Amino acid sequence: TLPAKRIAITGAAGQICYSLLFRIAKGDVYGPDQPVILQLLDIPQAMGALKGVLMELEDCAFPLVEEIIATDDPVEAFKDADALFLVGSRPRSKGMERADLLAVNAEIFKVQGKALNDAAKRDAKVIVVGNPANTNALTLAEHAPDFPRENITAMLRLDHNRFLSQMAAKAGIAVRDIEKAVVWGNHSPTMFPDWSNTVANGKKVADIVDDETWYRDTLIPTVGKRGAAIIEARGASSAASAASAAIDHMHDWINGTDGKWVSMGIPTDGTAYGIPEGLICGMPVTCEGGKYKLVEGIEIDDYARKMIDLSVEELKEERQAALGK
Ligand code: NAI
Repeated sequence: TLPAKRIAITGAAGQICYSLLFRIAKGDVYGPDQPVILQLLDIPQAMGALKGVLMELEDCAFPLVEEIIATDDPVEAFKDADALFLVGSRPRSKGMERADLLAVNAEIFKVQGKALNDAAKRDAKVIVVGNPANTNALTLAEHAPDFPRENITAMLRLDHNRFLSQMAAKAGIAVRDIEKAVVWGNHSPTMFPDWSNTVANGKKVADIVDDETWYRDTLIPTVGKRGAAIIEARGASSAASAASAAIDHMHDWINGTDGKWVSMGIPTDGTAYGIPEGLICGMPVTCEGGKYKLVEGIEIDDYARKMIDLSVEELKEERQAALGK
């Protein structure tokens, strides 16, 4: 058998992890032959609940799970990690302003950035799920100066998957046939699902649907407000679909996408698509050999330009509130 991969997961006692942990343990990230060690982090107040989750994981007797560590110490949780799912964050409480939310989360991701810097493997792959995901990922990177910045990403995949499903339903096509879809920007209602290059079975999806008004006035807000719609319907936030998207993101990064585009929040260097450097922004990538690569040379029309700039502006404001720069 292969040596086990160490997977660190934060927010382990929360809703998303109640789905995520069991799928990782089953082999959905690395595959059915790769043993794993789960290194679970939550806050001291959640240790009781985490113990219950641990008991359930044990009761599944997953053959791939070699060991499970549960702790409230980020350094212990991140030690020698190969992959990190940073799901835990502070949700907005009643009366909390956006700036306060950004500030408390900046504090969490500062501590975790230091732990990442000190404890994780240098080639570890990091996905930040906890909101505000893009800016939390940026804070993490700022406090992990010795850790490769390109290995820190934020989750746009849930938005990407929502975008695919909405297009598939409208166009009467299968999700698996859709190529070249991308969600740009921040994981927030300003994100921009871009279908200008999207094709299915050799045809442009925009031509199949042939309804630009539906795209602009229905599809884009539907994807942007999907999280709120699920809370409204379910009385609880999207957890299983968020976990599924996090698995897709990490699975594809590790195993490759066969040339298919996926959306990932990645660090920007100021050289592509008029997006300034020093942000973590949703962009189209392909993955191969354990690395992601930005899709280059996409044409950006006036509408896309306006929509991308709007979301990038919000990322800059969040950076200012979280990092003061
Ligand atoms: P939840 O509230 O059920 O669980 C969060 C867990 O994180 C709790 O167990 C909490 O104790 C823990 N936590 C808080 N601070 C922590 C810290 N400093 N270190 C370790 N653990 C900590 O929330 P849920 O539903 O699991 O969602 C988690 C996050 O994911 C939220 O921020 C949510 O907004 C975000 N999210 C992001 C999505 C995306 O597309 N990027 C999609 C859906 C949710």
